[in-house]
Amino acid sequence: MRAMTGTGLETAAQWLRQGEVVAIPTETVYGLAGNALDPAAVARIFEVKNRPRFNPLIVHTHSLMAAADWLAPYPDTVLQLAAAFWPGPLTLLLPKSPLIPHLVTAGHDRVAIRIPAHPLTLSLLESLDFPLAAPSANPFGYISPTTAAHVADQLGDNIPYILDGGPCQVGVESTIIGLEPDGRWCLYRSGGLAAEKIEAVTGPLYPVGNQHDSPSAPGMLSSHYAPRTPLHLRQDTPAVAPVPPAGTAVIGFDQYLPGYPAAHQYLLSPDGDLREAARHLFALLRTLDQAGYTSIWAFPVPDTGLGRAINDRLRRAGV
Ligand code: TXA
Ligand code: MG
Repeated sequence: MRAMTGTGLETAAQWLRQGEVVAIPTETVYGLAGNALDPAAVARIFEVKNRPRFNPLIVHTHSLMAAADWLAPYPDTVLQLAAAFWPGPLTLLLPKSPLIPHLVTAGHDRVAIRIPAHPLTLSLLESLDFPLAAPSANPFGYISPTTAAHVADQLGDNIPYILDGGPCQVGVESTIIGLEPDGRWCLYRSGGLAAEKIEAVTGPLYPVGNQHDSPSAPGMLSSHYAPRTPLHLRQDTPAVAPVPPAGTAVIGFDQYLPGYPAAHQYLLSPDGDLREAARHLFALLRTLDQAGYTSIWAFPVPDTGLGRAINDRLRRAGV
């Protein structure tokens, strides 16, 4: 099977109703979607992605109302978060109802849920009478796709359809926060929505135990989003860094490394705009991975707002 790519909402819906998985656009990254209420479709997602089954999936829906049946009762903060940030790059870990299959949550008692801000995918979700489980549409451990062509390159032989919604406008995955049994909110993954904005609604977000490669800490795999070319995240700044060995590609934010050919330096945002940097990050890593460099040096971006998600992805892409 070789994937067709197109904008056919009804084609995508038909495959999904038949229990198949298709790629869908979101504002963050492309997702590999299947019927979240059908364990066979969910199993197929894990198979296509080659993803370990202990790593649970995000459930995508078009409204909190539509999600009512799959969630256990939740506090009013959830309504406030939904009103402020949905549709958008925010995922909430909330207590689930029995209707969500165990495979979706890897046996955990909370489900990750989000309303994506992409017009095509919102229309698709509205036309279906089930929600869509969707991880990022990349082989496990590789960089997330931000265009339909990225998906076709890597998963095109294993899925029937790629719904093409153009390049992703945010470019890094959603921010994940979890409602803890004691009523506090924890930050599980920095992402496309700045934690500072969320904290205006939830109060302080607490950190969760970091960097465990264990099922008890899903979402926290420390090696992830990685290109095949070894990437070194620098701890210094371009102004004081040594000259890298020949064959190195340099990723900077808005500043070149002096004394190294500009042709092998790639700025995420010459204007110093974190949103532009996030939008370009994954496509750049893919391009550099195919360009024949022996290594990649990356300098961190300012560690505020979206910058925290970018630095987190660079850290996980690193060796
Ligand atoms: O922006 C996004 O979030 C994209 C688009 C497609 O929506 N999706 C995405 O999915 O990044 P994925 O599977 O690549 O990352 C989801 C993360 C995983 O690290 C997973 O461990 C965590 O969310 N997660 C999902 N369900 C969970 C649960 N029930 N408990 C704890 N963590 C969960
Ligand atoms: Mg992923």
